[in-house]
Order: sequence, then structure tokens, then C-alpha cells
Amino acid sequence: MKYRTALDALTAYRPGPPLAAIKERYGLERVAKLASNECPEGPFPEVLAAMREALPELNRYPDGGCVDLKAVVAGRTGLAENQLVFGNGSCELLMLIGRAVLGAGGHMIFARPSFVVYESIARVEEARYDAVPLRAHAHDLEAMLEAVTPETRLVIVCNPNNPTGTFLGASQLREFVRAVPSETVIVLDEAYIEYVNDPGLLDTVPWLSEHENLIILRTFSKIYGLAGMRVGYGMAHPGFIEVLDKVRQPFNVTTLAQVAAGTAMRLPERVAERRAHVVRERARVTGALEDLGIRTVPSQANFVLLDIEGLAVPGKEVPQALLERGVMTRSGYAMGCPGWLRVTIGSTDENDLFLSVLEEVAAGRSRS
Ligand SMILES: Cc1ncc(COP(=O)(O)O)c(C=O)c1O
Repeated sequence: MKYRTALDALTAYRPGPPLAAIKERYGLERVAKLASNECPEGPFPEVLAAMREALPELNRYPDGGCVDLKAVVAGRTGLAENQLVFGNGSCELLMLIGRAVLGAGGHMIFARPSFVVYESIARVEEARYDAVPLRAHAHDLEAMLEAVTPETRLVIVCNPNNPTGTFLGASQLREFVRAVPSETVIVLDEAYIEYVNDPGLLDTVPWLSEHENLIILRTFSKIYGLAGMRVGYGMAHPGFIEVLDKVRQPFNVTTLAQVAAGTAMRLPERVAERRAHVVRERARVTGALEDLGIRTVPSQANFVLLDIEGLAVPGKEVPQALLERGVMTRSGYAMGCPGWLRVTIGSTDENDLFLSVLEEVAAGRSRS
């Protein structure tokens, strides 16, 4: 079989075992899934009702223009409908942007560690890339700017950053966006923006009127609790949206995803409740970790990165030790931050379970 040899350098995404298999293997009654930065609660009840109502229409293809959803997002963001594009998760939009702007030999810049998909996009497109190391766990915007060359087609900034949770305030980011040449596309990946309570938070959407090379990505997978529906959106200049529309498949967002996202976005008061829960629990979990003598990176997202070196169990074994006690987390060793662990802020009960099993592991006590 012939295929592109560039793909040899890539490792396919390997999903973990299903929760049922984990429960059975370790004799657990429950597993707290705190590994993928999902929302611990399901879709809003209004969303489920709207989806149920849409079921009989599933014999038809979805609306390829996402007309109703576009109207809702335009209304909430103040943008025109031709400034919006929707994807099968914001991941699809990232891939489409790579497809549209990179090409073999094109140059791309992102931070490391940051969202792992960025590097695979560069590799799939056979682009050259610079993964600029974080400074004090945050984007080093100065170094990223220095890495820009006339060949640079794409720069991605993840804010707040996954997996560190660090947040860039609007003023430093604004300067960066102004400094990047207008021929270079800038992606602001704001998958976790709804969890930010930092006073430096400022809406980046108005910047679009000045920067035709800017695209802001957001998702319904996190605070809206719709990760399983796969829907995200991009906001950019109409010319840029038109380019992305050329590379997407016509029906890339399912009917149910459109209905779910449109209904969810009409419920800002429910989103605010979820934000308040995460902000409260994030502070509580961070405080409790510090009481245990465990260092954390200050986070503005729905997850926290914590230092797992120097515990009774070697750092590399901590995620497995937690899993055997019913808590699934994400090892930093697989994400470019060895010695660290990323844990999602879950429900209050899940967070309590995480803290108690981590305390047990940290102290080298056997499973209670
Ligand atoms: C930084 C970042 N961007 C984008 C995504 C993709 O989100 P989705 O494709 O579910 O919209 C994620 C998912 O974890 C993420 O962490």
C-alpha cells in the first residue's frame, strides 16, 4: 500500500480503555474521570429536550450552513454571520486551518507544552515548526515573536494554555497580535476561556475588526458539557471564513450538534453557574494540594497541573496508582511536562475523592 511517508513520524491517538473495563480490572464501583477536561455534568435539560425534538428529522442531512446556530452565536458575540465557521469540535477547525494555510514546507509556531494536536497538524501537513518552550509555565510571547520568519504561515496561542492552565492577560496578548505580520495567521485557541476569572480577561472578539489574519476558536465541549456532540466554532474576517468553508466537508456538524449548541448558548445563566462551581472548586483543590505540600501551577482553566515528584511513589507511577483507586488523571510525562500531573476539576465529590486518594498515594499508604 502506498501512502504519504510523512505519516510514519506520527503516532495515532490511542484511546484509553473504557470505564467499564477499568472498573472490572481494579474491582472499583466508580471511576472519577478527571483526565480530559470535560464538564462533570451532562448537557443542560433544555438541550436534551431540544435534541429529542430533533430526532425524527435525522433522515435528512444537517443544515450545511448551520444557519440557526450561526444566528445564535452572532447574536451573542456581536459578529456578523459571515464571520463564523463551525466544526466537528474545534479540533476539526484546527485541522482545517492547517489544511488551508500550511502546505508542505510552510512554517508554524506554537508553544510547548501546549495542546498536543498542534504538533500533529504540522506533521500531517508536512510543515516545519518551532515549538517554543513555555517560560514559567506560560507562553513566552517574546520568543514566539522572535521565531516568526517570512515563511511563517501560522502561529497558535492557547489561552488559557492546556496543560498548564496559565492565562495571558489581554494587554500582552494584544501587543503580540499587533506585532505578528499580517500575512501570518494567528489562532487564539480559547477552548477554556469561559473558566477565566482573572481581572486581565478582556473579550478578544473586537480585535477581529483590526486583524484579518486572526481567528478565535471556542468550543461547546467544555463548559457547555457537549464534548460527545463534537461542535466548536471559529470567529474571523469573512474572507478567512470563506477560505475555511472551501476545505471543510459540506455537512461537518451534525443536526443534533447544531441543535444542542444553539440551545446551550441561549442559556448564559446556566453557564455562569458552572463557571462559579469551577472557580470555587479550583481554588479549593489548589488550596488542599498546597496543604499537602504539593506545588501547583496557578490555573484559569477547568484543570490544574500539579507537581508529583518527591511523593512516596515515583512520579511516573502516580497516574496508575490513582487509577487503581478510582481516579483517572492525565500524566504530564505524555504531554511534555514530566514530573507533573493534570487533573480536571470535577464535581465536588469527584474532587474530594481525588484529594483523598492522592493523599494516600503521596504518603505511600496502600489502597484503603
Ligand atoms: C486547547 C484545546 N483546544 C481545542 C480542544 C478541542 O476541543 P473540541 O475538539 O472538543 O472542541 C481541546 C480539547 O481538549 C483543547 O484542550
